[in-house]
Amino acid sequence: MRGYKFIAFAASVLALGSLQVAGTTETENKTGEFVATKEWQVIAEGQAIPKGLHVRINLQTGLKEAKLLDENERGTALQSQQGQEADENEPLSLDYKPDIIEESLRRVKEKKKSYAELRKAYKEFQKNFRTDGELIVQLIDQYRNFSKTPLESELRSKLDSLENLEYLLHQIDNALLFIDNGGLDDVLLPIVVNDTNTALRISAMRVLGSLTSNNPKAQIKVFEKNFGSHLAQILTSSNNAGEISAALHAFGALLRKFPLAQQRILSTSGTQALIKLLQSPDVELRSKSKVVTLISDLVQEKRFVLETSKDAPDAASTVAQYVLLEFQPWLQTHGYCAAVDNVLAKHYLHLLEQPEIVEQFATALEITGDLCSASWSQSSGLRHALLTIRNRYANSQDEYRLEVSQALSKLCEKLFNKPKHTEL
Ligand SMILES: *[C@@H]1O[C@H](CO)[C@@H](O)[C@H](O)[C@H]1NC(C)=O
Ligand SMILES: *[C@@H]1O[C@H](CO)[C@@H](O)[C@H](O)[C@H]1NC(C)=O
Ligand SMILES: *[C@@H]1O[C@H](CO)[C@@H](O)[C@H](O)[C@H]1NC(C)=O
Repeated sequence: MRGYKFIAFAASVLALGSLQVAGTTETENKTGEFVATKEWQVIAEGQAIPKGLHVRINLQTGLKEAKLLDENERGTALQSQQGQEADENEPLSLDYKPDIIEESLRRVKEKKKSYAELRKAYKEFQKNFRTDGELIVQLIDQYRNFSKTPLESELRSKLDSLENLEYLLHQIDNALLFIDNGGLDDVLLPIVVNDTNTALRISAMRVLGSLTSNNPKAQIKVFEKNFGSHLAQILTSSNNAGEISAALHAFGALLRKFPLAQQRILSTSGTQALIKLLQSPDVELRSKSKVVTLISDLVQEKRFVLETSKDAPDAASTVAQYVLLEFQPWLQTHGYCAAVDNVLAKHYLHLLEQPEIVEQFATALEITGDLCSASWSQSSGLRHALLTIRNRYANSQDEYRLEVSQALSKLCEKLFNKPKHTEL
């Protein structure tokens, strides 16, 4: 038998291997020798124990216990794990022993404590736990409970509910559950259609954008509830940048990859609403840049579907819907080309300080260039604006502006086809 063997059991069996516990230590209790049997017995504080015992920490009591090794326990991997490597004649330093015992005890106590806490926390969690679905139903119910006449005192709770919904309804299943439980009719429609509070309308449209984004089933339901024309109505009448931004986001989320909705909404009030935003002197440049981005995204989407359809003959019905979609002619009819031209010609001085907006316009001009090239290439105001911004950015130290200036160079070359005319 090599040295003295200790095996301490912590929550997960913790093998401490062979330890020398020879001799007496300061902590030893000389009044009683430990007499080991085949049963576990508590080792008293500081009590000496003979060599070769099986020692453990009792997890229920936190006390040290020892017993004789069973025959079949001798020399098992567990007991000899660390001991094998140690030289049996070289005792481990004595002060190592209490350290290890104390460490094990400490760990056990810590574990106990954390289990207890975990248990408590878990019980608490279970008590308050709601699945997303339960939460959504509760939020809808809460909304139904609000008084029909708008009350200032309820505003904060309403906004909070909407914020929670915006967060929850990004998930496809949650969005559908919200719709199935009447959320569109009972929560969103009344606000979007009738509420006079702008903050509430903004929040409701954010929820709408969240639940329709990349969610074809939700897009269909939202479309069926006629949100498209309600949003177009808001876009037509609002000059609040936050509201326009939220409405554009929801509008875009509803229309993207949904050719039927594009057909119905853009052929009626939709296109007009977008172009009116470009024309209105009260609408910020930032909002106008979001409008041209949405327009060019939709133009691009149709182009992309038609180009890739050659490789996907099974998408025939989708392609047919896009073929019927006459967004570009509607844009022309409602004055898109002149509206964009005017924004840039009038506001280029403001744009000098807003390169990210210039970039959005440059991208949109590039994508929609085909449908407007006849008018844009003849517009001295537009040319002047684009070249001024380009020249200013070309002389900048800022990398981003330099990049935008290169994009503008390409655009000008394409539109005006007179690369020599760069001087003003
Ligand atoms: C020594 O052990 C006895 C019984 O085992 C106990 O009553 C006593 O308190 C112990 N003394 C010390 C100093 O731990
Ligand atoms: C709605 O009101 C009813 C009746 O006042 C109440 O029992 C219920 O708990 C309320 N629901 C919510 C979600 O506030
Ligand atoms: C908006 O208000 C009108 C007039 O009070 C009402 O008839 C209509 O049902 C309301 N619409 C919604 C969606 O709440």
